[in-house]
Amino acid sequence: MARLKTAVLISGRGSNLQALIDACAVPGFPAEIVLVIANVAGAAGLARAQAAGIAARTIPHRDYKSREQFEARLTEELAAAEAGLVCLAGFMRILTPSFVARWRDRLVNIHPSLLPAYPGMHTHARALADGVRIAGCTVHFVRAEVDHGPIVVQAAVPVLPGDDEAALAARVLAAEHRAYPLALRLIAEGRVRIEGDRCVIDGAAAPGVVLINPSDG
Ligand code: GRF
Repeated sequence: MARLKTAVLISGRGSNLQALIDACAVPGFPAEIVLVIANVAGAAGLARAQAAGIAARTIPHRDYKSREQFEARLTEELAAAEAGLVCLAGFMRILTPSFVARWRDRLVNIHPSLLPAYPGMHTHARALADGVRIAGCTVHFVRAEVDHGPIVVQAAVPVLPGDDEAALAARVLAAEHRAYPLALRLIAEGRVRIEGDRCVIDGAAAPGVVLINPSDG
């Protein structure tokens, strides 16, 4: 079966991009990354794409007079690469409703919280300030409202005593690196159906565990 042609949009470090690159390198994986676009020149993720032999472009948003013009250029590149799915991976630009509509149900994002809790920035600091005991990440289809849309995969991790923002971020990031490749695989296998505001996933088993934190008590 043809592999799902996937583009990844980044702004920085690209560790999630790397997780997707590594997953796609496994024989039989149902998706391939055909293009990586960064909106920031020198984004570290670009080197990861180049090292993997993947076409990488920089499209600096600052070079465009409007969001619409910037996005038109993105769409041009995505169409030329025949991308069937676009993955946002640490892409720090808000997309207009018209771009989101153009890629509806073919545009996914990863966010470092268990949505709908903590949309937006500084998720880990906010979670720590609230004293939550479970944190995590979410892969979701993108809708016009930021960090909102049908959820494909979530991963949960405990908040540990003494965690600071960096420690919690690192634990969630490790979970992101498992969640994003799983979401990409499920989508590429055609197992994810969007029904209204929710995803229904064919043949996906749920883990038979309860994550309780603290574990003694
Ligand atoms: C991740 O935490 C992701 O959830 C958020 O931005 C960060 C990107 O990290 N949207 P990286 O560039 O993938 O390393």
